[in-house]
Amino acid sequence: MLDGIVSEDVESIVSRIGNMGKALETCKVLVTGGAGFLGSYICDVVNKLGADVVCVDDLSSGKIENIDHLLGSGKFTLIKADVSSFEPNEKFDYVLHVASPAAPEEYQSKPVDTMRANSVGTLNMLEVARRSDARMLYTSTSEVYGDAKALPTPETYWGNVNPIGPRSCYDEGKRFSEALIMAYIRQYGLDVRIVRIFNSFGPRMRYDGAYGRVVSKFINQALSRRPITVYGTGRQTRSFCYISDTITGITLALLNEKARGEVINIGNPHEITILRLARLIKRITDSDSKIMFMELPPDDPKRRVPDIRKAKKLLGWKPFVKLEDGLKRTVEWYKLRGSV
Ligand SMILES: NC(=O)c1ccc[n+]([C@@H]2O[C@H](COP(=O)([O-])OP(=O)(O)OC[C@H]3O[C@@H](n4cnc5c(N)ncnc54)[C@H](O)[C@@H]3O)[C@@H](O)[C@H]2O)c1
Repeated sequence: MLDGIVSEDVESIVSRIGNMGKALETCKVLVTGGAGFLGSYICDVVNKLGADVVCVDDLSSGKIENIDHLLGSGKFTLIKADVSSFEPNEKFDYVLHVASPAAPEEYQSKPVDTMRANSVGTLNMLEVARRSDARMLYTSTSEVYGDAKALPTPETYWGNVNPIGPRSCYDEGKRFSEALIMAYIRQYGLDVRIVRIFNSFGPRMRYDGAYGRVVSKFINQALSRRPITVYGTGRQTRSFCYISDTITGITLALLNEKARGEVINIGNPHEITILRLARLIKRITDSDSKIMFMELPPDDPKRRVPDIRKAKKLLGWKPFVKLEDGLKRTVEWYKLRGSV
């Protein structure tokens, strides 16, 4: 069964999608990476809108518990496979290629797998979409902008990426995927949409080991009263978008006719320093954790903030969950699960 917080999120996404969601009724949708953080929310929403979902996931960072309530519903199939070699014997109406290592420590610990999922994996999914005559959506990232010099960063900015640094497996993998998708659009007229996601957070985000991201790690550290580990001085900024806003943006980009062939930033333009984030999480969790400063990893972007004018204009989308409210929901979810 869906837990209360995620269920409320899914309901709010479905209601914001409105009538547009009818396009998914009776459709067959392939979601790669559907057992992960974003992917499992996508599976929930698409399933709720009436589609039959096939989720392909190698469970490298995804979790069965994110999707087990969907198993046995008769409208959801899990196939444990690598997206680079998966060969379906059926056709789909929509293909969402979401699978990729996504946490910095995780992708840096397996750079070849990361590049494969975002090159061979993307090529494979483009071919599946082409054979099916399906519409495809690809989850790219703000990391394609690298250490951006244009702030807030619009989709027209070309990026400032170190092509051989430790983050390049992810940044350049995503950039290659984007170029490959544009080639398929130009050569075959395929209907593809690219969303560049800026740090999303919320329930189901892993906090453990190499899979943790800054928000889930800080919450976990604060709740377990261990030091909150801030890289560098903590003056670098990020912009955090609550999961229900992110998934609403992704679903609208999938369904809106005007998004065909477009690249769209999906993120929350509210910018915050990492140090302020740590203090905010300390306050929300009422924690006495100390803040501990660690060495800044190489190529860490100094500021990250999206320009979302295109998403507003094209999709009529903007985020509406305030950072503090999203954090409170996320903390509540972790507490209810007793996972820290
Ligand atoms: N969460 C964010 O803030 C964010 C920001 C920018 C981009 N993205 C992108 O969104 C997508 C989902 O990210 P997430 O945060 O949900 O991460 P996640 O790790 O929770 O989910 C990724 C899923 O893909 C699966 N996977 C990884 N490699 C695979 C492979 N080769 N074959 C099959 N399955 C594989 C994992 O098991 C997992 O279920 C990724 O493509 C990521 O790059 C996420």
